[in-house]
Amino acid sequence: MTDLQSNLSLVANEIESLRKRLERLNYEYYVLDNPSVTDREFDEMLRQLNILEQQYPQFITSSSPTQRVGGQINKDFKQINHRYPMLSLSNTYNKEEIIEFVNRAEENIGITDAEWVCELKYDGLAISLLYENGELIRAATRGNGVTGDDVTDNIKTIKSIPLHLLGNTYPDSFEIRGEVIFPHKAFEEFNAKRIENGEEPFANPRNAASGSLKLQDPREVAKRNLDCYLYYLIGDNMNEPTHFKRLQEAKQWGFKIEQHVRIANGIDDIMEFITYWDKQRDFLPYAIDGIVIKLNEIKYWNQLGATAKSPRWATAYKFKAEQAQSRLTNVEFQVGRTGIVTPVANFEPVWLGGTWVKRATLNNEQWMDNLNLCEEDTLIIEKGGEIIPKIVECRHDVHKEQNGELRKIRFIETCPQCGERLVKEEDQSGWYCPNYNHCSPQILGRFQHFVSKKAMNIESLGGEKMKYLLNSGKVSDFASLYELSEEQLIGVYTIDEEHKLSIQDKGAYNIVSAVEKSKNVPFERVLYALGLRYIGEVGAKTLAKHFENIDNLKKATIEELENVEDIGATTAESVYQYFRNEENLLEIEKLKSAGLRFETDKHNVKSTLNGKTFVVSGTFTKFTRDEIKKAIEENGGKNVSSLSQKTSFLIAGEKMGPEKKKKAVALNIPIITEDDFIGMIQ
Ligand code: IVH
Repeated sequence: MTDLQSNLSLVANEIESLRKRLERLNYEYYVLDNPSVTDREFDEMLRQLNILEQQYPQFITSSSPTQRVGGQINKDFKQINHRYPMLSLSNTYNKEEIIEFVNRAEENIGITDAEWVCELKYDGLAISLLYENGELIRAATRGNGVTGDDVTDNIKTIKSIPLHLLGNTYPDSFEIRGEVIFPHKAFEEFNAKRIENGEEPFANPRNAASGSLKLQDPREVAKRNLDCYLYYLIGDNMNEPTHFKRLQEAKQWGFKIEQHVRIANGIDDIMEFITYWDKQRDFLPYAIDGIVIKLNEIKYWNQLGATAKSPRWATAYKFKAEQAQSRLTNVEFQVGRTGIVTPVANFEPVWLGGTWVKRATLNNEQWMDNLNLCEEDTLIIEKGGEIIPKIVECRHDVHKEQNGELRKIRFIETCPQCGERLVKEEDQSGWYCPNYNHCSPQILGRFQHFVSKKAMNIESLGGEKMKYLLNSGKVSDFASLYELSEEQLIGVYTIDEEHKLSIQDKGAYNIVSAVEKSKNVPFERVLYALGLRYIGEVGAKTLAKHFENIDNLKKATIEELENVEDIGATTAESVYQYFRNEENLLEIEKLKSAGLRFETDKHNVKSTLNGKTFVVSGTFTKFTRDEIKKAIEENGGKNVSSLSQKTSFLIAGEKMGPEKKKKAVALNIPIITEDDFIGMIQ
């Protein structure tokens, strides 16, 4: 061996040994929560490894501890076909339903005393990790259950997920699934920073976790301190015959497995676990929304199998909404981008379901009246599965009630922002401010909508930035966004006495480029971006497809609009009126000159299903029938209502009529599932 070779092999050994020690220390810190060295010692070791890898880049591997935060931006996430579909769980809501589930499963496997594993049901985002020869190969989101996004780079930033497994008892190839969560503490810190930067805070940890994994820059994900608990192993060569033992084994390999997993023998044990966690869940450092019970013996999993949506060997028990009490401080009336006025109750902050809550929507006048809300009422607030707090009851002060001193809270009559008299909505449920063009929150709301992701996607202007550009007069109408120069944008804008917003060179460059890029946004999204009352994403698509360009839409009569499928009278009236307003017409002309797209792109229809005709029958889990039909058309296929010799495929959903099936078989027409169809168009 030459000196050089022996030197290199020494370096390789040193790198290997540093990595092994760092992996073990990482595991102690992030998984076991029991570090054996100080943070400084850890950092120093990581620094040494980094120096060696810089000097000898031939030894860098993608699973080295230095490679958690990649510098690459992922523009589009690659689609990954799951080796095994990512199913969801059936839900139960009470003891009877659990008994029914347990009995049915036990009956089907022919025993009466199966062992069940009880786990927490983490409220985050499902993830599937593939390991080969002990290395993390890829990580995918659930997606539609069949295909998901490749989010490997983002997942690698989660320190409790091992890039390289410990020991050597793991199978050559296996998948492990779990939940990415945003722990309460990390979530609160993250939201506080967003507010400080003038950005909109996330509504709940689940949305924030899911949004984080879709970020294009792993460095941003790394800042968020996400975590991940694993709960399900799949592979052909697993050592252990029970789920519980598999989890314990996975823990030895370096995965974070919740310590509160228990084996239950019978319903009483299961119920005890549920009752305990229903009370204790507030003390966990992350959100759970129920518990999961799974048969322990894996051989029964295979015996029972799964329905199209969920396995028959596991179910979730969903907790009832949590409640808390607080005192009403005041009711605020907010004006949205379409002028709708929404009453919002502010109350003394209460700890509910793992976060502080201090406000809840009262929806509209009717809703507020039904509650009979009075000043200084005590409110009962509930946080359901959807995390948004809801007022379910209000209790009046007994003394005031007896003395006739109760003061009912009434809906306002004029706009709290511009003073205009409010008008009742068509469907009578809400009031709105008709001062469309000159009421400031409506203007701001429209701009925020215009730049939002699903509209023109100028996200660098999201959050509060728009407000300051409007206030400073640099932006006055949508078209003026397209005239902004970097020089104009650079500056420091005052938010309030203590906060300032600063747009520097890079920020200005990002904004101007995003504005430029938005000129390629298709017509249907431009139409959505304009923010016509009652026109959501779907409505905009329908109108764009039907009328093909803005001039046809402008000319349409109310009757013509109403004749479009799925466009009702209210929407038709709104569209018609929009084009009768001079300011709106002028705006459109200016945007046309700026280069925005105001006609559909005929080439947008894909040709994947060219020449194929489909009959759609039954109900589906991943699409509504209309959506599946739309997907057929968007991919160049044709929908027909009845089967004939010419039909290429019958897409069969649940509850499809038996006659249809018979006829398809007789005509020799292939019967496919919605998953087969998804496979076809991907
Ligand atoms: S097992 C085939 N275990 O709940 C069964 N899921 O509603 C795979 N979840 O999509 C799921 N905690 O994202 C399982 N301990 C746990 C879980 C859990 C949370 C999520 C998971 C799943 C959803 C089903």
